[in-house]
Amino acid sequence: MNERLVIQPHRHADRTPAIPTFAEYQRLYRLSLDAPDHFWAQRAEQLTWFHRWHTVFDSDYEETDMGWFLGGRLNACYNCVDRHLNQRGDQTAVIWAQDEPGQYQRITYRQLKHHVARVANVLREHGVRKGDRVIVYLPMIPELIYTMLACARIGAVHSVVFGGFSSEAIRDRILDCGARLVVTANEGLRGGRRLPLKEAVDRAVDGLDQVATVLVVRRTDLEPPMRPGRDWWLDEECHKQRSTCSIEWMGAEDPLFILYTSGSTGKPKGVLHTTGGYLVFASYSHQVVFDYRDGDIYFCAADCGWITGHSYIVYGPLANGATTVLFESTPVFPDAGRYWQIVDDLQVNIFYTAPTAIRALVRAGDEYLARSSRESLRTLGTVGEPINPDTWLWYYDKVGRGRCNVVDTWWQTETGGILIAPLPGVTPMKPGSATLPFFGVRPLLVDDDGRELDGPAAGNLCLRHSWPGQARTIHGAHHRFHETYFSRFPGLYFTGDGCRRDEDGYYWITGRVDDVINVAGHRLGTAEIESALVAHEAVTEAAVVGFPHEIKGQGIFAYVILDRHYEATDAHELQGLLKEQVRHVIGPIATPDAILVAPGLPKTRSGKIMRRILRQIAAGEYRDLGDVTTLAEPDVVETLVESHRTLSAAARQD
Ligand code: PRX
Repeated sequence: MNERLVIQPHRHADRTPAIPTFAEYQRLYRLSLDAPDHFWAQRAEQLTWFHRWHTVFDSDYEETDMGWFLGGRLNACYNCVDRHLNQRGDQTAVIWAQDEPGQYQRITYRQLKHHVARVANVLREHGVRKGDRVIVYLPMIPELIYTMLACARIGAVHSVVFGGFSSEAIRDRILDCGARLVVTANEGLRGGRRLPLKEAVDRAVDGLDQVATVLVVRRTDLEPPMRPGRDWWLDEECHKQRSTCSIEWMGAEDPLFILYTSGSTGKPKGVLHTTGGYLVFASYSHQVVFDYRDGDIYFCAADCGWITGHSYIVYGPLANGATTVLFESTPVFPDAGRYWQIVDDLQVNIFYTAPTAIRALVRAGDEYLARSSRESLRTLGTVGEPINPDTWLWYYDKVGRGRCNVVDTWWQTETGGILIAPLPGVTPMKPGSATLPFFGVRPLLVDDDGRELDGPAAGNLCLRHSWPGQARTIHGAHHRFHETYFSRFPGLYFTGDGCRRDEDGYYWITGRVDDVINVAGHRLGTAEIESALVAHEAVTEAAVVGFPHEIKGQGIFAYVILDRHYEATDAHELQGLLKEQVRHVIGPIATPDAILVAPGLPKTRSGKIMRRILRQIAAGEYRDLGDVTTLAEPDVVETLVESHRTLSAAARQD
């Protein structure tokens, strides 16, 4: 693949992009770095403030103390709903594309306001007040958006938990953030399958007196057991409520939400975003990076359990008065033409998904494209993991028929919004590169000793200066926040990603350089999976690494050492047990693809596991394992290679 390939941006005949030329991008980019106060104040004026800020920003990386729009007061729900009512009360705010193909439900801004107000009143009636945390474990249904916005309306802090997490993971999050109320559904529906959400919440809150209330959305006809005094049907509660609800005006730096994400050590951390800077950044980046215009139909196929759903299904689009599509199903239900069917049915102009989904569709074959025209599409986005140039080109050529701009957007839960991406119609594209920084973002590459690298180079991706969407802390663990992001390279925010910069200054993200793996766009810490495995009585030690996977980007490979006293069962059965163990502790998304029972692990004499060797073996790269003579037990490597060969041969036969 030719990495020098440059594809010129497309201009659509009837329109000039929001940023009209590449020279204008460069000028504004300079301005955003040289005069950030001026630049961001102008952007912030596009929102509605109850009280204007006195200081645009005050940040100290050394002290890990960042603040934007200080003194300002606003409300995220008001900005996403109420302020649009005069002009767009009857415009569709949300199109819910249900699991069942061809079933759509449209919700106008006025209806959205009524639903949100009712849910907000229910929350208040159940004792939720400003600053309280609410756990949201819902499928992709309108009530998910209502609940997020209802929390924002009354100043509560939502923490959405992705449906692929287990009861234990929900429980951990409830405990960590101190939530007393959980919102869930009787069941979810996804790809024709029923997901037992209420059952999972019941297990999560079992014996937890802290949780006083569970609100249950009725998605199917299932009648789960309801514990009197604790469990309430949300629809019944809403019926009793008025469709107006007063707004809690929030300080710009008051928390808006907590979202848990994996790091290289310990349990997932509750990344905390605040109100003003986050909303300014999410809405402005949504407008510019997707070239969003009034009247566009915008479809982001992510899940609201992740940051992409927060910023680019809910807050960014709704703050911009957009029509946003909420998709309940999967890209392959009932077949691999599902996205394109929706694009044609709803006349979608902007479509945003993850490389893993695109790779699955490439594999399914081009025939699924033939049934749709996709003529309405203008901008195609990707996010979540590096996109290989072949996949990029398929997206561009086949899905976009060579007429759409593709925006490969690099960002993270912690960044709140997109930081590196082309601007549609303006930035020349290179397949596989996230291209150039967004306004106010100053990326830099440093070597392992923290020396800044100039010009074309490869190194650790860091960011200098704060931007409005930056996470402010980890809930309840500010020290960990500092340690994780600001201590490795003092004075800089360290992203955890490796990256290359080419001679044109374009950025090519190469993947994580820490012990975080990216599986089908889901971010998982290897340490989390290891502790789930060693919690099983059979396992004394485990080491988990990622390996290249054709569809998922990375797969999960676990090396386990069994307890001497463990009565060996059949290898197949053991694998099943251990996979079940991980599903139980974390959830199905963390299920290992392969488990190898190892006699030992390659360790240095000081006891450090040589993960590089484990990664190479898991990838089947047995040659060039480097110098293993410094290991405590060099012979282990040979045995692991043999076991891996056997495992791979068996997998091929399956
Ligand atoms: O490794 C990068 C990868 O996803 C990580 C962030 O994961 P998460 O916090 O779950 O947020 C994902 C959605 C914003 C990053 O550290 N990543 C994200 N986008 C890209 C990417 N890697 C390469 N190219 C991207 N466009």
